[in-house]
Amino acid sequence: MQPGLWCGSVEEIHLKTFYIETFGCQMNAHDSEKVVGTLLREGYSQVVDEADAGLILYNTCSIRDKAEQKVFHRLNEYKRMQGEGKKFAVLGCVAQQEGNKIFERAPYVSLVAGSASYRNLPEMLARLEAGETRITGLDDRQTDETFDTEFTSRTNPHRGYITIIEGCDKFCSYCVVPYTRGKERSRTSASVLAEAQRIAQMGFTEIQLLGQNVNSYLDPSGKRSFAELLAAVGEVNGIKRVRFTTSHPRDFTKDIVDAIDAVPTLCDHVHLPVQSGSTDVLRAMQRDYTRDWYLERIAWTKAARRDISLTSDIIVGFPGETDRDFEDTITLLETVGYDAIYGFKYSPRPNTPAIHMHDSIPEDVKVARLAILNARQREIQRENYGRHLDQTVEVMVEHGANSRGQITGRSTQNKTVNFMCDSTPPSGSYIDVRITQVFPSSLVGEAISVPTVPSPALAAQQALNARVPVVH
Ligand code: SAH
Ligand code: SF4
Ligand code: F3S
Repeated sequence: MQPGLWCGSVEEIHLKTFYIETFGCQMNAHDSEKVVGTLLREGYSQVVDEADAGLILYNTCSIRDKAEQKVFHRLNEYKRMQGEGKKFAVLGCVAQQEGNKIFERAPYVSLVAGSASYRNLPEMLARLEAGETRITGLDDRQTDETFDTEFTSRTNPHRGYITIIEGCDKFCSYCVVPYTRGKERSRTSASVLAEAQRIAQMGFTEIQLLGQNVNSYLDPSGKRSFAELLAAVGEVNGIKRVRFTTSHPRDFTKDIVDAIDAVPTLCDHVHLPVQSGSTDVLRAMQRDYTRDWYLERIAWTKAARRDISLTSDIIVGFPGETDRDFEDTITLLETVGYDAIYGFKYSPRPNTPAIHMHDSIPEDVKVARLAILNARQREIQRENYGRHLDQTVEVMVEHGANSRGQITGRSTQNKTVNFMCDSTPPSGSYIDVRITQVFPSSLVGEAISVPTVPSPALAAQQALNARVPVVH
């Protein structure tokens, strides 16, 4: 039987339909693509309206802002649907964090599983179908196994995600991830390359390698370092762009920059979250590096022959962060000159060491610091983006014309480019654009080449894939 099709009674058809909602990071979004692929393989079909689903899955994130309360609130909304014979599953980081408590607070939930257990999904689904109501996948955080499947249901038609390392062993003092995703474990480079080749043959031209700390990758077969794997993926036939996220400064080695310099398909972009510009705060965060050590990695990246764009994550208002510490973060922004930052107010999270520290920075100070951070960053970006005026950049087309008739795509540096073009280039095509106008987070230009249409479109794959809604 083809995945996605189900030939059974009306009741069975209802049971074998699912709806999935996803929160959180790109790893979580890609996990959902693999969960969807697994469900399709098991004979389920996906629906886009929860009212039509026999099984509702909720893939959760626990990173900030009392995330678990929001999950329980959402589960409460599902309560009214329990009489309709639907089944509910909670996946992801809140599932792992709250575990059996979810059954207590939402007794109509039948399955609670963290990401380290997804490789057991077919077995858990069989138990669900057999009528079990307290199924858990919570005990696998020490596993060496990764969740690899050939049945990933890819939602982006041009960019294929590949998780190369799962989990996190870094234990930053504020962060839930080591507790929700388990220990670091990598796939063999041979299996990563086989997946890269497979998706290149399907027509994908861009690959994004994923990991909570993608550059902590450790090949279990001992064959390739992260930089060597990056280069090898970049050399896969048909691949035009390779991205990787997120890099941890601690494991950011110079050979990564050398690989970008050497292999043209590796994109001109490194996301290297610093979290704070103050060495004292970094120590309290247990980041295991100093400001200077971080800046040395930035210096390597800036010394590259290619113009590598830098982006970062920053937390303001960590316990004990003084005005002086915060000022160090602002001066670091100025020294690095990031093209984008994701700024967050510190939020205390369960199980983390920082929850025992006094959350000393009042909310209004956190709000004020975040506003100062974002305002300064906007000025930096105004200057950075300004340098692109009159340059020609290659753009991968993502969307057809907007209300102003502009096509939207991305440069190798991951910058959004809106441009005018005589014809409408197909999404996924590559086109040279001359930049005529600059803004702090986008560029505007005119197409100056005929679009290069990549290898055959993904019609077959797309026909199989229903959309996986992702909510951030
Ligand atoms: N592994 C990556 C980040 C993963 S989490 C790294 O170490 O860089 C994504 C981002 O969420 C982090 O970079 C951090 O900026 C933010 N974050 C994590 N825990 C947080 C917390 N308790 N409060 C506020 N922001 C947090
Ligand atoms: Fe969290 Fe730190 Fe691991 Fe990043 S490295 S996921 S911030 S514990
Ligand atoms: Fe959220 Fe878990 Fe990702 S906490 S950010 S979904 S690793």
